[in-house]
Amino acid sequence: MRVAVVHSGTSADAIDVALVDIVTDERAGVTDMTPLILTDVAWPSALRDRVLAIALGEPVSIAEVARLDVQIGEAFADAVIRAGCHEADLVVAPGQTVYHWVEGGRTRGTLQLGRSAVIAERTGAAVVSDLRAADIAAGGTGAPLMPVFDGAWLGAEAAHSGEAIATLNLGGIANISRITPVGTASGWDTGPANGLLDAVVMRATSGRESFDDDGYRAASGRVNRHLLQIMEGHPYFAQAPPKSTGRETFALDFVDAAVHTLGGDVPVDDLLATLVRLTARTVAESLRRAGGASTLIASGGGVRNSALMASMGDALAEDGCTLTTSAERGIDPIHKESLLFAFVGYFSAHAIPIALDPKVGPRVAGVTTPAGWAANTRVSSIGEMQIRERHMK
Ligand SMILES: Nc1ncnc2c1ncn2[C@@H]1O[C@H](COP(=O)(O)OP(=O)(O)O)[C@@H](O)[C@H]1O
Ligand SMILES: [Mg+2]
Repeated sequence: MRVAVVHSGTSADAIDVALVDIVTDERAGVTDMTPLILTDVAWPSALRDRVLAIALGEPVSIAEVARLDVQIGEAFADAVIRAGCHEADLVVAPGQTVYHWVEGGRTRGTLQLGRSAVIAERTGAAVVSDLRAADIAAGGTGAPLMPVFDGAWLGAEAAHSGEAIATLNLGGIANISRITPVGTASGWDTGPANGLLDAVVMRATSGRESFDDDGYRAASGRVNRHLLQIMEGHPYFAQAPPKSTGRETFALDFVDAAVHTLGGDVPVDDLLATLVRLTARTVAESLRRAGGASTLIASGGGVRNSALMASMGDALAEDGCTLTTSAERGIDPIHKESLLFAFVGYFSAHAIPIALDPKVGPRVAGVTTPAGWAANTRVSSIGEMQIRERHMK
């Protein structure tokens, strides 16, 4: 099956698009994934600005939510077509997360925009969306989804080596998966990653720069230890996994409040250096408390930030854990999430329940919107309608 994927993470840095050929050999119990296209397409800039503003907590009207839902759907459909993925059998479109509702430590809901009907109509393919809703409805955290993929990808390696293997996705938020030798796969969000770095850079440059290229600024700054300590006091870090968070929890007000508590100004580069160390330390600490791992395989845009990778390597080395990237095992780190969505969406389209959260148990992960003109095999036309009397027994 040719599966197209279109998505954008919490950073909303670009619209990621992929086309993956997926074949399952049921007898061997193996699913082969062959990436055919892995690319990204720029967001329409005004749309991206609104998405980012909303993700960072700006108030928004219901009317605008309704408009954005369609406009994001259109942008995603255009991205699929422009990337040359329009001949897919299926489009997996998890949508742009605009809100993640967590209350009292429990995930209650999540909202992704990018209307599936618009994508189905424009691409002519069936669309799988809403990958997190069923898990959350059943009491799960709905995020991260990566452990399912990592368990299937790395389970055999962990069993063979007898040691746990972890993966780390450095997107707007950082999330970990931990795969044990006995085959359990758990995952959680450790806290902020690129999202805060981007927000600080954008504000400091009045929007001229949107990220700290290669971590250059962070590398030239100095970690403010007292500020780091204040930030590490956020209750999210003390919470035990499974847990998930979003950009509304770790936005600029989190940084500003910490700087305010510190009293006095902190130069931007020092702030970035401190945030980089915060990400590295909270990832390492969180993994240690979960039992550790021999190797941590990183992916996501953050692997391009050398300052972040260096800090991460140092923090993990203290626990005897080696940092590497998914490139060393054949997955382009920038596009690993696309492969994840292809994998999950493929099983959703086949109505195969998968366990996103081991405590909740397997659920069919997504909602399928059929291709607009696809005929149902049992009922092929509507025809005339008659009202009949109910037969009483
Ligand atoms: N060359 C680079 N140098 C530093 N950071 C980078 C670079 N390229 C990408 N990034 C970071 O990665 C982020 C995007 O990562 P990505 O995995 O796409 O996150 P998300 O899933 O949240 O969209 C950017 O916002 C930026 O912070
Ligand atoms: Mg991205």
